[in-house]
Amino acid sequence: MATLRKPNGLILLFCVIVSCFFFQVWGRPATFLEDFMVTWSDSHIRQLEGGRAIQLVLDQNSGCGFASKKKYLFGRVSMKIKLVPGDSAGTVTAFYMNSDTDNIRDELDFEFLGNRTGQPYTVQTNVYAHGKGDREQRVNLWFDPAADFHTYSIMWNHGQVVFSVDDVPIRVYKNHEAKGIPFPKSQPMGVFSTLWEADDWATRGGLEKINWSKAPFYAYYKDFDIEGCPVPGPSFCATNAANWWEGASYKSLSAEQARRYSWVRMNHMIYDYCTDKSRYPVTPPECVAGI
Ligand SMILES: *[C@@H]1O[C@H](CO)[C@@H](O)[C@H](O)[C@H]1NC(C)=O
Ligand SMILES: *[C@@H]1O[C@H](CO)[C@@H](O)[C@H](O)[C@H]1NC(C)=O
Repeated sequence: MATLRKPNGLILLFCVIVSCFFFQVWGRPATFLEDFMVTWSDSHIRQLEGGRAIQLVLDQNSGCGFASKKKYLFGRVSMKIKLVPGDSAGTVTAFYMNSDTDNIRDELDFEFLGNRTGQPYTVQTNVYAHGKGDREQRVNLWFDPAADFHTYSIMWNHGQVVFSVDDVPIRVYKNHEAKGIPFPKSQPMGVFSTLWEADDWATRGGLEKINWSKAPFYAYYKDFDIEGCPVPGPSFCATNAANWWEGASYKSLSAEQARRYSWVRMNHMIYDYCTDKSRYPVTPPECVAGI
């Protein structure tokens, strides 16, 4: 009997270690506070459903923001968001990852630009790699993102960054380092979100101003999910080829994803820095390197 007890104890210990490991690396948080903290105006972020969802508030006193407690190197972050409804012109809701390193910043941005009632919301994406950004693309959403929750995600591995809306890729930034094009891959990034007023530029280039008589403005978030390698954390994690996000099916878009991606580009894209000759007389190299 004594000989049986020992292995049992070892197995138990092994299970504890494995489950800790999985919890840390692939944990799917149930509540906002497990992975996030308020970084701007506590009074404007309310927890709902026992912290499983939150409400962001923008009024004339303040906007608000939150951030992940940890930074991550590769992985996927996704959340369900219901944007400010009705007359949201001049409001901006942002969901992004940022390395917080001034001169060599890496950043992956989703910015949702509000609009007048009945006019389409615009999603702007941008990619900063090693301090260089100015890679804006804009897509007008094909549904009303304030009528219901939709899933927005950023998948980031060694080969590509993919921004998706409900599993439809709307932006792909490939790793073309072999062609001398920078790719974010050496700095961990935190996950951030803010709701604020930006009516000097957001809606029709700043022509449409925020209507404060409609305030307060509300956006809702739920189903927070970060699956990635926390830094600090297990040092082998980021280079572990066994991470699901490094798998064969995430190295490039599948045929079905590529089809959806071209549908978005053909029917819903309203701006692409790649084709903006007044800004870039010479097409930026990542635009011609292809996906
Ligand atoms: C707002 O609606 C106008 C008119 O439909 C459209 O041109 C614009 O792209 C929309 N989005 C923003 C952010 O202005
Ligand atoms: C702002 O909202 C108020 C209240 O709904 C409305 O009466 C007014 O016309 C709006 N102003 C603009 C510029 O849309």
